[in-house]
Amino acid sequence: MRRFVIIGLAVSLFFLGAYSSFRNSQLGSCLAYAFGGFREVAQDRSERFLGKVHEDIARCRGGEAAVTWRATPWVDWQQYRATGAQDSRSAGLLSRLGFLSPNSRGIAGALLDMEYQRIELLKFNLFDNSGTFEEYIRGRGETAGSAIRVWPQFRLPSGHPSYSNVGSDGRQRCRGELVRFRHLTGLCNDIDNPLMGSTDQPFARNSQFDATFPDLGKNQIVKNRHGERLGLLKPDPQVISRRLFSRAQTPNNNCNDGHGLPGYTPSANCDYQKAPVLNVLAAFWIQFMTHDWFSHLDEGHNQSESMMMGCSTRRVDGAVKPLTGKEIRQLGCRPEDRIDKSDVAEDSPPASFATGNTTYLTRAHKTTLNRVTAWWDASQIYGYNETSRRRVRRDPRDPARLLLVFGDSPTKAAVGYLPVLRPSDPMNPQWSGQESVAFPDNWNVGLSFFHNIFAREHNIFVEVFRRQAATTPEGDSGLRNPAMPEVVIRYKDITSDELFDVARLVIAAEIAKIHTIEWTPQLLYNEPVYLAMNANWSGLLARHALVADALEKVLAGLGKSQSGKEATAWTSAFAAGPGIFGLSNDQPDVNGGINHFGSPFNFPEEFVTVYRLHPMVPDLLELREWQNDPNVIRQKLPMIETLRGKATQAIQQYGLANWALSMGRQRLGQLTLQNHPMFLQNLSMPRLKSATGKIDVPALDIIRDRERGVPRYNEFRRQYGLKQLTRFDDFIDPRVPKDSAARREQQRLVGVLRDVYGQHRCDASKVITKAQLNDDKSAINDCLGHASSSMVDNIEDVDTVIGWLAEFARPHGFAISETQFQVFILNASRRLFSDRFLTSSFRPEFYTHLGVRWVIENGPDGRIMEKGKINGHEMEVSPLKRLLLRTLPELAAELDLVVNVFDPWARDRGEYYSLQWKPRPGAETDEAFKR
Ligand code: HEM
Repeated sequence: MRRFVIIGLAVSLFFLGAYSSFRNSQLGSCLAYAFGGFREVAQDRSERFLGKVHEDIARCRGGEAAVTWRATPWVDWQQYRATGAQDSRSAGLLSRLGFLSPNSRGIAGALLDMEYQRIELLKFNLFDNSGTFEEYIRGRGETAGSAIRVWPQFRLPSGHPSYSNVGSDGRQRCRGELVRFRHLTGLCNDIDNPLMGSTDQPFARNSQFDATFPDLGKNQIVKNRHGERLGLLKPDPQVISRRLFSRAQTPNNNCNDGHGLPGYTPSANCDYQKAPVLNVLAAFWIQFMTHDWFSHLDEGHNQSESMMMGCSTRRVDGAVKPLTGKEIRQLGCRPEDRIDKSDVAEDSPPASFATGNTTYLTRAHKTTLNRVTAWWDASQIYGYNETSRRRVRRDPRDPARLLLVFGDSPTKAAVGYLPVLRPSDPMNPQWSGQESVAFPDNWNVGLSFFHNIFAREHNIFVEVFRRQAATTPEGDSGLRNPAMPEVVIRYKDITSDELFDVARLVIAAEIAKIHTIEWTPQLLYNEPVYLAMNANWSGLLARHALVADALEKVLAGLGKSQSGKEATAWTSAFAAGPGIFGLSNDQPDVNGGINHFGSPFNFPEEFVTVYRLHPMVPDLLELREWQNDPNVIRQKLPMIETLRGKATQAIQQYGLANWALSMGRQRLGQLTLQNHPMFLQNLSMPRLKSATGKIDVPALDIIRDRERGVPRYNEFRRQYGLKQLTRFDDFIDPRVPKDSAARREQQRLVGVLRDVYGQHRCDASKVITKAQLNDDKSAINDCLGHASSSMVDNIEDVDTVIGWLAEFARPHGFAISETQFQVFILNASRRLFSDRFLTSSFRPEFYTHLGVRWVIENGPDGRIMEKGKINGHEMEVSPLKRLLLRTLPELAAELDLVVNVFDPWARDRGEYYSLQWKPRPGAETDEAFKR
């Protein structure tokens, strides 16, 4: 009997051992995961996904590396198979299993994780500041809050010039001329909510209202989180700038504080850390975009009252001490700098309301206005109010065109430059001498470049349209007037004003396309993001199998966790598969494809924060000549000499083609600590009339976020459904070898963070957040898991910009951090979902037949494919490359090998998402590869 027991035990142990090793194998983990089913979308914010998966899932998608990674605060998908470069892919027999192969599991898993994030962000992170929030929470009658589609707050007021056109005091609905094209101030994009997204509407929030404005200490939780440690100038923003933002320079490199050498000799050098796969065009592209989406400043102005900018204190052993004269000199900051205070729309105490046991604020403690339209409507080019429109010059010989000149003479469609501001144009004195455009602030060569090429593109569209009209004057243009939808508008009937507005629609959609499928996939250079962005865009055209599959799985989990009406509203938004662009453009209702998910659309304050990308800008620009060996850097021009009116001179002196080549080949600055441009720390601002006449823009980035109540970094992450950090050392990327120089550098920066932000003795009885719970469902407290009364890092105080710049651990090819990406996942989808002209009104009745084709086929000449496969995909020639070939045809030879215009033009792209910095054939002598 004893023998049987022993044998029985041995057999059991054997099977248990075998089971456990099978269970811990990838196959076992995949089976366990498959039988476990897919998670439901969280019902409550405390159950959110956080980007962290079960051990089985991690192993199935990424093997042991992914299992180990689960202990970090960073999203798990970055360790899944095939989400990196070639070495992240598994080879051999298993890789041929198609959908079941480790590579497909990795990519599909990453897409699934992103889709969970997106749906939960839409569910938990929408906070409108314009008075609709109470209904969003309570619902309206039978309608769930997130299914509400029309709000009284977006009605036109009785004094508005279009009041009677939309239905006066009855049901308001835009009609007639108001719905035909993109309206100057962004009115009537949503036909039922005339004011939504228009100029001067409040910025929204993505954080709970009571988590905003931590400096004000408005509730106990915020006080518990930060004690007395925060203020507008606490910790000191200029000290932060000089210690955590300044670029270190090699001695004797002739940088001369960003001024380079006389005659712009190329032997000058201003050191900066360079991003591997993004060029300077990409930096100015995103500045060009932000000027379309948002601005806190009105005509380049804030309030008239000014304030100090720091350079006065530092922390020593937990206490704030004044800086000594010697310390100020060592830091190089300026106590006399002044800046105008940020505009505020509302700062009276917000009302509150209660449902169940929860009390909510109806808005944030203060609100600010978005001074431009929130739509992706190219308003930086075409205007967003009457003042800006006066700067938009149309060609008197053909008013459908924008005016382009050479010297003082108007030019043909595709050549020439935008005209310069005239003394009679509305402007700030500091804009004098620069091009006349709708959004002229912070002007530089990069902005000048993009404004000029898009003005050329506008005119080329008009020219091609006019040619078509001349060939088939009786033909149906596709355009319709909604007042008489049955009447065909022939080519010959179209007026110059109509054609101008059609061209604006086309340019805006082209810009949105370039941003979605060209800029973003290069900024986040890996396979899952490539698939996700292309699927987002091409919903109109194609279903991407892996993305559609991920979406279906998440939607299945959504249905279970939502009220019927809410679930229907959500599912209908996603019904066409993963795509958003062109959604419902085949349905009769031209307004029917939009979905605001119960919260009216505007960008949130937090969105502005994550676009503070000033480190991208180098101090010296490397000038090349396309006709004269592009591999040679001829001059190094200081950025500081290419601002405002000097930008206009520089663009015209060297020509757009040389600038395209120069900015196309130079790498931009990496988004990391100690990498801000010097010239921005010392930017002259004559309008301020302060003792120094200068400001430190990176320090101002910190100040503005504090003025506008952006939660500090750790709470920001918790609010967005990401894991918190518990100490500064969490920033160190565990993948970096322990004894490497890179590791030592990260440790050094962690030391500086600790020095600047300090530590405190923690109190475990203080609850510090309502956004998340610990894994064991207990409240998160001041000790963040460390022993009570121990000294802990002041990680809660870290300014958001500092935090995301300090993220050394990033998914492969990410120029930005995962925290910034999280903000994009939500808002990048929303600005497509909410815009009628990018969904249900993307149709010939608005765009004309030529316009629709132009956007879909990247121009007038039909689809053109790149040679061979790129990262395993057959790809069309990119939309910006096609545009450059039209506007700068002299660059055809240089562009021939360019696949993505934002990838440094002379880089060899290598195989599968390589980040290597090596020259492509023909560029071996390019000096940029010697450094
Ligand atoms: C020559 C280059 C640049 C100059 C001179 C410049 C200058 C400035 C200044 C002075 C401000 C502060 C305005 C204020 O709050 O009073 C600012 C804000 C900002 N900058 Fe830049 N900048 C440059 C490049 C860029 C680039 C490449 C980006 C990339 C996206 C960028 C993004 C932003 C954002 C998001 C803000 C906040 C805007 C707002 O509050 O509405 N800037 N910049």
